[in-house]
Amino acid sequence: MRVGVLTGGGDCPGLNAVIRSIVRKGVQEYGFDFVGVRDGWLGLLRGEVIPLDIPRVRGILPRGGTILGSSRTNPFKHEDGLLRVRDTLATHDVDALVVIGGEDTLGVATELSRRGIPLVGVPKTIDNDVSGTDYTFGFDTAVGIATEAIDRLHTTAESHMRALVVEVMGRHSGWIALHAGVAGGANVILIPERPFDIDQVCEQVKNRFKINYAPIVVVAEGAVPKEGQMVLKDKSLDEFGHVRLSGIGEWLAQEISERTGKDARTTVLGHIQRGGTPSAFDRWLATRFGLHAIDAVKDGDLGVMVALRGTLVVRVPLDDATARNKVVDPSLYDEFEVFFG
Ligand code: F6P
Repeated sequence: MRVGVLTGGGDCPGLNAVIRSIVRKGVQEYGFDFVGVRDGWLGLLRGEVIPLDIPRVRGILPRGGTILGSSRTNPFKHEDGLLRVRDTLATHDVDALVVIGGEDTLGVATELSRRGIPLVGVPKTIDNDVSGTDYTFGFDTAVGIATEAIDRLHTTAESHMRALVVEVMGRHSGWIALHAGVAGGANVILIPERPFDIDQVCEQVKNRFKINYAPIVVVAEGAVPKEGQMVLKDKSLDEFGHVRLSGIGEWLAQEISERTGKDARTTVLGHIQRGGTPSAFDRWLATRFGLHAIDAVKDGDLGVMVALRGTLVVRVPLDDATARNKVVDPSLYDEFEVFFG
């Protein structure tokens, strides 16, 4: 059997660990051979596949990024997209595909699976917003990086008695902001799921200064003020219709400065959260996902996504996993109310 492996969407620490684990088990235990698809769905549109074998995946476990390359290409937005995907798979005798991606890539996988393409999904994203799985790999690394950044910013905030705003990733979900904000002892945490009141944020900032502490505000890039419009620097859309976010952190610092009279600065963590070596937990999770994904291929259990439930890796229908995003539950956010302000 020949299996294709594809990584799509934003890069994410742990992608290489999944690729390695799929290939190691597939070759050693099942005698499969592999091809790697270049740059996500784009590779299937262009017919770009490369050989993938055990020597090729040696040493990649701790490396960030993806040896296969990635893109935000949506084949359904390209002329004859489905046909070209089918052609590439047929030309290279690919019997099944393992698709490693987040909401968009797995959304395409779901549609392709409905149309008869044999595939298995693996959930990746630093955002942790894929339904059906308790965690996606990449999230733990991103939270670790954001937490370390907050720890470092505390010392500057305190030395200069400034408000420091930290903008983290999270377009539709505030998982990174909430986890890193709680771990880093932030005084204000703003997430997309809950539009915020700028007056209240400024009150919380002032309260913090009153007790001689410098406030740290953690804001997810997709957070929005209550009655306002989303704050955007760049209005261009990708092929999945997403705008390029960034701007809310700067806007907040400006408002805080003007309304409280205190110095406020912003740090946008951006792609630093996605880059570099994966945490031990992400390597562990990515490795397990890879092993279970190739087992699903071997069992002919297609149209599923591997998922973490508690400590178990299970298979869930792709349809269920991609029907909606997993967002932060209001009651979880409220648990931390005591630390705000
Ligand atoms: O989906 C992961 C993610 O890192 C989001 O948190 C972020 O909004 C987006 O990707 C940024 O994408 P890009 O790197 O393509 O600008």
